[in-house]
Amino acid sequence: MKILITGGAGFMGSNMIHYLLKKYNDVEIINFDLLTYAGNLENLKDIENDSRYTFIKGDIVDFQSINSVVSQGVDIVINYAAETHVDRSILDAKAFLSTNIMGVYNLLESVRKNNIKKMVQISTDEVYGAVLEGESVEEDVFRPRSPYAASKASADHLCHSYFTTYNTPVIVTHSVNFYGPYQFPEKLVPLFTTKLFTGEKVPVYGDGMQVREWIFTEDHCSAIDTIANKGEVGETYNIGTGFRVTNLEITKKIIKLTGRDESYVEYVKDRAGHDRRYALNSQKIRTKLGWKPEVNFDTGLQKTVDWYKNNPEWLEKCVSGEYKEYYKNQYKLR
Ligand code: DAU
Repeated sequence: MKILITGGAGFMGSNMIHYLLKKYNDVEIINFDLLTYAGNLENLKDIENDSRYTFIKGDIVDFQSINSVVSQGVDIVINYAAETHVDRSILDAKAFLSTNIMGVYNLLESVRKNNIKKMVQISTDEVYGAVLEGESVEEDVFRPRSPYAASKASADHLCHSYFTTYNTPVIVTHSVNFYGPYQFPEKLVPLFTTKLFTGEKVPVYGDGMQVREWIFTEDHCSAIDTIANKGEVGETYNIGTGFRVTNLEITKKIIKLTGRDESYVEYVKDRAGHDRRYALNSQKIRTKLGWKPEVNFDTGLQKTVDWYKNNPEWLEKCVSGEYKEYYKNQYKLR
């Protein structure tokens, strides 16, 4: 099985490469990644010499470049390449529209022209917009509220339109918030964990009562693996755990694990258009494909905090250079 992972040097893509190489002996993986600020080959240092793995630097926004890889023949394309950070999309949406929409268009065209058997598009629960009560199901209307979510929603629509119009074999997945090793320290879990290690306060937006649903990386990898093997083309699958907490609750858990106290919480100006709550109904993937999450949140969080503690060099490389100021002040930039 030859699998093309786009965005494989990022957090989720690199976790997926590790997962696949560990699970399957006969797999061949091509990692196609532009190496933007969030893509980091350090994430794959331990497997870089594995004969089943190849890295190609390139941009999905450049059709020739991505098509030259797809046209050599792959069994499946899994697209992790994306701009993913909501705050950055509020600062400047351009890269989001380019990578998240034009990049997906190029992939769909390439998959279609080269008769690839399956493409999996990694997307988000944010396309459904804020869900104050109840849960989002796959049939719900999209109500994206940030430039990031709007770019993902556009790409999802494009995927479905390609399936309807050209029979392009694509599957869309909507996932809740990920956490785990190798996540770039701009998202809540790695940002707060690493700041607390060094004795800095953590910026909680607004009142901290926004609700998010969380999934550990390994569980997300197993969901995508299940969908890649058993998912039906043209379908959408929600991937969730049902574990929903407020940002403040999760902050308190990280505070405890890092040995700090609540004086380290700093309430700061809220994110513009901040979605109050997300909640996914993930019955479809559970009943139709037999997947379920295995990792309990507290266990996953402990593993994650331990990983950041044990990998200070990785962190140092992330927060040095041009990212240094951003890491210190990102919440002031919004
Ligand atoms: O829901 C899935 C989505 O989860 C993914 O599609 C996105 O790519 C991913 O970035 C994530 O979006 P969020 O905006 O939920 O993740 P983030 O870690 O940025 O924020 C989680 C919550 O914590 C959110 O309500 C905003 C809040 N927050 C975040 C940061 C970075 C803070 O209160 N302070 C912070 O400094």
